[in-house]
Amino acid sequence: MQMENHTDRTDLNLPAPLREPERQYYFIAKCRQWVQKFEAEHGRRPTACVFNMGCQMNARDSEKLRGILEAAGYALSDDEASDFVIYNTCTVRENANQKVYGHLGRISGLKKKNPQMMTALCGCMMQEPEEVEKIRKSYRFVNLVFGTHNIYKFAELLAAAQESDRMIIDVWKDTDQIVEDLPAERTYSFKSGVNIMFGCNNFCSYCIVPYVRGRERSRRPEDILAEIRALVKDGVREVMLLGQNVNSYGKNLEEPVTFAQLLQRVEQIGGLERIRFMTSHPKDLSDELIEVMKHSEKICRHLHLPLQSGSTAILKRMNRKYTKEQYLALADRLRAQMPDLSITTDIIVGFPGETEEDFRETLDVVRRVRFDSAFTFIYSKRSGTPAAVMEDQVPENIVKDRFNRLLALVQEISQEMAKRVEGQTLPVLVESVNEQDAALVTGRLNNNLLVHFPGGPELIGRIVNVHLTECRGFYYLGTADCGGRRQPDSP
Ligand code: 5AD
Ligand code: SF4
Repeated sequence: MQMENHTDRTDLNLPAPLREPERQYYFIAKCRQWVQKFEAEHGRRPTACVFNMGCQMNARDSEKLRGILEAAGYALSDDEASDFVIYNTCTVRENANQKVYGHLGRISGLKKKNPQMMTALCGCMMQEPEEVEKIRKSYRFVNLVFGTHNIYKFAELLAAAQESDRMIIDVWKDTDQIVEDLPAERTYSFKSGVNIMFGCNNFCSYCIVPYVRGRERSRRPEDILAEIRALVKDGVREVMLLGQNVNSYGKNLEEPVTFAQLLQRVEQIGGLERIRFMTSHPKDLSDELIEVMKHSEKICRHLHLPLQSGSTAILKRMNRKYTKEQYLALADRLRAQMPDLSITTDIIVGFPGETEEDFRETLDVVRRVRFDSAFTFIYSKRSGTPAAVMEDQVPENIVKDRFNRLLALVQEISQEMAKRVEGQTLPVLVESVNEQDAALVTGRLNNNLLVHFPGGPELIGRIVNVHLTECRGFYYLGTADCGGRRQPDSP
């Protein structure tokens, strides 16, 4: 709504406004003019495709890019062979970078078929000067490169790229600016990510995020609440509050607010049914938050609490600021307060200096905490981070062996944990028609487990009570519970 008002009032004969977000609405109108010209020449709207290649933050940023493209008149598509393709890159591990070059390799072929095709790159990898230099030199067909700090300027950059036949590169080192009220095109009508903060101040020694996402900045609670209220009005029932370290939310605001206090205010929003958040750093997880979660009716029983390593010595070298014992004590506190809580984690294998003994400490924590699921990663050297120059990098064959042992244990425990709710009837938020079997729909339990059950597309976005008949490893088969009258069992 707001977007229509802004762009429809825009007079392109006047110079661009200096204030944000008005300036970006001016450039959306400008892009729209270009799109109309394209349409007149080709008899169709130009198509645009946004690839998100990273985390949930990256996915949310992609929704913002899609929102701008849609407002500018592009027809959104999932096809890489579009008139405009933008890669929202990740750089947390080296293989993320390699994927980008794989895509760029394919683009030159696509460009031969469609010479007017435009390509853009943005996101975390573009904050690395060496990568931008490589693209500038070796991938000269790229039209636009920008980073994480000026993503709000996408409309302005797109307008410039539409008029230019040279590569436009605009990457900022850092920013303290947060621009509100720009459009976003949601992937799901009924759930949405909501950024509550940007950047990270933790500098874990292996991690590139603080260098590419900059220092921690929290959005004002009023802006977050207004965004969620508008989302709920628009049909959203579940929000995922996003930040690299949500537990330190609000510390740098003029009027400091804790994350637990923010959650309490979000909980008050009528019509909102589920609240999720990620990621929590164990060192900052407060008892206040545990209390708020425990008494909340909307906060989901799921906590993503990255462990990274179970060895206190390695945690120290990782600069994580907690010990094995502190992590275990925190997990015990959480399980004692919320026995039905699902705890998930991230673990890195093969951090420099990791010995067999250190690795066994990690296995020990996995056995004791019994994670509901764990993302396991092989350590990836990121240049510029302190760990990249640490001695004792672990040989590849040893890392692979440890990785496989960890994965086997994690999977065994996850399957046992998933079984916990077998036979119960629990609410499921339906997300989609099942990809393999169109007679089924797929949704999520409050604890994030997937459930498939017989039903039609009219259930999408609705919360349905489902009898969890059969646990199949990491997901459930069930049947909708129609007020006590059970439907026949699923196939
Ligand atoms: N190598 C491997 N995994 C990493 N992560 C972050 N940096 C690296 C790295 N250099 C993992 C951490 C983090 C998750 C998002 O990615 O486990 O929690
Ligand atoms: Fe990276 Fe650590 Fe910040 Fe997470 S908390 S983004 S792992 S530096």
